[in-house]
Amino acid sequence: MLAHDDNERATRVGPGTPMGTTMRRYWMPALLAWELPEPDCPPVRVKLLGEELVAFRDSRGKIGLLEEHCPHRRVSLFFGRNEDCGLRCVYHGWKFDVDGRCVDMMNEPEELSFADKIRTTAYPTVEAGGVVWAYLGPEDRRPPLPKFAWTQAPPTHRHVSKVIQECNWLQGLEGGIDTSHVPILHRVLSADSARPGFKPGDPFVRGKAPILELDVTDYGYRYAGLRPLDGESVHVRAYHLILPFHQIRPGRTGAGDYTGVAGHIWVPMDDETTMVYNWEYSTTEPLTEEDRLERRLGNGPFDVDQTTFRSRRNRENNYLLDRRVQRTESFTGIDGVNVQDRAVQESMGSIVDRSREHLGPADRAVIQARRLLLQAIKTVEAGGTPPGVEPTYYTLRPAEAVVPRDTDWRTLLAPEAPRSEVLQQV
Ligand code: FES
Ligand SMILES: [Fe+2]
Repeated sequence: MLAHDDNERATRVGPGTPMGTTMRRYWMPALLAWELPEPDCPPVRVKLLGEELVAFRDSRGKIGLLEEHCPHRRVSLFFGRNEDCGLRCVYHGWKFDVDGRCVDMMNEPEELSFADKIRTTAYPTVEAGGVVWAYLGPEDRRPPLPKFAWTQAPPTHRHVSKVIQECNWLQGLEGGIDTSHVPILHRVLSADSARPGFKPGDPFVRGKAPILELDVTDYGYRYAGLRPLDGESVHVRAYHLILPFHQIRPGRTGAGDYTGVAGHIWVPMDDETTMVYNWEYSTTEPLTEEDRLERRLGNGPFDVDQTTFRSRRNRENNYLLDRRVQRTESFTGIDGVNVQDRAVQESMGSIVDRSREHLGPADRAVIQARRLLLQAIKTVEAGGTPPGVEPTYYTLRPAEAVVPRDTDWRTLLAPEAPRSEVLQQV
């Protein structure tokens, strides 16, 4: 459980809040790069940490991320004209460049030079891995670029999508680092079902309840769920949490092989709405068109409206839950692994009351994540640098394998893991 005050500190992200101030120390996804496909294309609304923003790609291809509302009389620049290296408000023609400078005014005489005195809020951006990242923090604390390994993979081998989740970001994150729910919530009941999920014969499902082992690192932590199988073997699934909201987990190819790398990023739009970024990359073959449809997860273009990024299966329609399917084919009767996640996590309420929980040993990774987030807030309040800012996370890899029981799961993460320092074993 978490006391009311700590729950407030850990979850709320608006300007001036403890977690909002902490999150503003990291690069964070603002939108997908393809949403701004070419110079002078239409601008896009962006909501990030409770701030209403507008993104545009100027005539030279540079991306601007400005406060949405024009500093003149607060009209939305979403309606603006993206022309000649700036975004022009359609109400009185004030025009802003990617740095937020007002470069022209159509309703004031030029000789007044009033435009020189006007600036709007503009945040720095960088493109990496098909994502436009933004930094909303103090300029003198801007961290190294967000070069996660997946962002450095060639476009043929990586994929990223996004979908809105209708609850606080921490509920999503806590689901993403909660290995114990995975072979339960996402279970398929019969071996011959075509529904997405983990089948009865999968070692992940056959294994007994997991033992969790966790190492705190300088970026967050790495942890493994160890599920004993019959005989002398154990199923291992090892993840990373990179503060404040990145998960790296083993991905599975269509054949069920353990070769992919995948992850989610739970980026708060505001306190009660989250944009979840879903990425994967292959270290071997290029991804196929079928991979990019993300049917198994329910995050692709068949499942998520690609203009609003709202899921077609959502709270209003009970995620198209089918009770017949729930009896005979899948644990939930809901299709799509991440649709199942959104269903249970949104059902907890906009911001779950963590003072009313009953946590057990299987929640160890969740408990540790909260502890690290609250510590990160304290570090920032004391003038320090929170974990996950330095580039030690650049090369992290997850692992999944069935191995002899005496195998140390940490060796499965090599050779990348030794780059980052282990601070504490929990
Ligand atoms: S409100 Fe934007 S120019 Fe007047
Ligand atoms: Fe899940």
